[in-house]
Amino acid sequence: MKAIIYTATAAVFLISFIGMLIYGYKTFYIESDTTTSKEYKYHFALIAEETENDYWRLIEKGARKAAAENDIYLEYVAPKKADNEALLELLDRMISANVDGIIVQGVEGQRFVDLAHKGNERHLPIITIDADVKGSERQAYIGTDNFHAGELAGQTMIENTTGEQYVGIVTGRLDALSQQERIAGFKDKIKSHPRIHLTTTEESGITVIGAAQATYSLLKEYPEITALIGTSALDGMGMVEGLHEIAPNKEVYMTAFDTLPETLQLIQENKIDATIAQYPEKMGYKAVEVMIGLQEKGLLEREVFTETNIIEKQDLQRSGGELQ
Ligand code: BGC
Repeated sequence: MKAIIYTATAAVFLISFIGMLIYGYKTFYIESDTTTSKEYKYHFALIAEETENDYWRLIEKGARKAAAENDIYLEYVAPKKADNEALLELLDRMISANVDGIIVQGVEGQRFVDLAHKGNERHLPIITIDADVKGSERQAYIGTDNFHAGELAGQTMIENTTGEQYVGIVTGRLDALSQQERIAGFKDKIKSHPRIHLTTTEESGITVIGAAQATYSLLKEYPEITALIGTSALDGMGMVEGLHEIAPNKEVYMTAFDTLPETLQLIQENKIDATIAQYPEKMGYKAVEVMIGLQEKGLLEREVFTETNIIEKQDLQRSGGELQ
């Protein structure tokens, strides 16, 4: 009898014990989070001009591709709306976070120079992308030669217009270095062509609506305008809208920047005459590659200019509309 009781008790104990193990495992086992606990080789930060900007998302896409291929954790951060102060704040924060490398849009002024120095003192490499600050201690620049890109915009105007031209400039932001250099290149190119006159420059705030408003103001103030140049990625789209609002039947020679699909579509529709192509995905990809090089082999290249070229309707037909 005793033996039966002992065996039954032992059986009940064993069953409850196994049950407890299974239940406890299911209840308390936490699946390891592969995205956060995976060991990466390096942690890089990419600081963009503005979070939801299509052009910066292409830079991010290229950077993520290189990061995935090389086992790198890439953090994409940016001010919600383009703002130099907010970007510099992020840069400072990333330096303090002690990531392995920072890829950032160059910003004018002493604060950027000071932060690049701070990074350098901490042996934290900083690479500029899209816009450079040559006088700073950034390790390298990857992106368009913005002065040359501006010259290309001037070249389209010289080659594709005849007679007196009155040009209005729509620019992303007056305090953005890439924009300042493009305008300087454009002015330099047209200076030996006295038939091409500049009226004034209006800011778009790197938005389509801002570019539409800028175009409206330009044409209101200078109805003699015969040509418009937009120096950032969404300006061309806004210029078409703005012109449609104020002078739908006016013929205006338009040069845009970048090859976002909406801009290419407007070229197909003959609403934009030319655009200056940049290659943001390649910039992002290359920047990560150079940053890896900096970690492992030291500095190889201080300045990597990605391609720029003039794109017109005939080029789209040749390439089947694909340019990225
Ligand atoms: C410029 C970037 C800018 C973007 C805005 C591009 O053409 O290179 O600096 O952030 O346009 O849409």
